Amino acid sequence: MRYGGSRHVRLNDESRPFMTDSLQFKAAMARLGSAVCIIATDGPCGRYGITVSAVTSVSDDPPSLIVCVNRNSGANAAIKENGALSVNVLSSDQEEVSGVFATSKVDPRERFNTGDWVVSERGNLILNDSAALFECEVDKAVEYGTHTVFFCKVTDSHVGASENGLIYHGRAYHHIRPFE
Ligand SMILES: Cc1cc2nc3c(=O)[nH]c(=O)nc-3n(C[C@H](O)[C@H](O)[C@H](O)COP(=O)(O)O)c2cc1C
Repeated sequence: MRYGGSRHVRLNDESRPFMTDSLQFKAAMARLGSAVCIIATDGPCGRYGITVSAVTSVSDDPPSLIVCVNRNSGANAAIKENGALSVNVLSSDQEEVSGVFATSKVDPRERFNTGDWVVSERGNLILNDSAALFECEVDKAVEYGTHTVFFCKVTDSHVGASENGLIYHGRAYHHIRPFE
């Protein structure tokens, strides 16, 4: 399909503002495939972890990334109070762990019974056998719409043994591996 039909605004037509609704936005965002991560936090507020795809690097000096977390999630308040989190980039064989951390039906503390979770030297909850790991301190939290954008300083990063990634695209999981 070519864009630019009657629903769309021609670049030279300033009389009609571009409109999109939430469902249309979500349908289009589903085409934006992303790595699947579990963010985990621990500290005074207790441990909490959820599956996320909204993780993006910001700068390599200082090493930093952003994570967008829904304000309705218990993870939001826990991250704010604990001030630290780990970003565990899942490998292709960690789809089951992703499912457990993506549902409200499992108690947040019990989620850590699925997967090989350990405590790092820095005191972060980290998942063994992930594709990559970032340990972070929260630097800034910016509220925007339904979500909080957490700006995080990366205190440590690790590259895992698995080169096979887990991708979420078209509302489904996909396994990818390096081109041979
Ligand atoms: C592939 C995938 C990506 C997700 N990405 C995000 C995200 O970036 N931010 C977010 O707040 N929730 C995201 N979620 C939803 C949360 O995982 C889910 O709402 C949360 O785990 C529910 O737990 P809670 O009720 O304890 O908050 C995602 C879910 C899936 C399956």
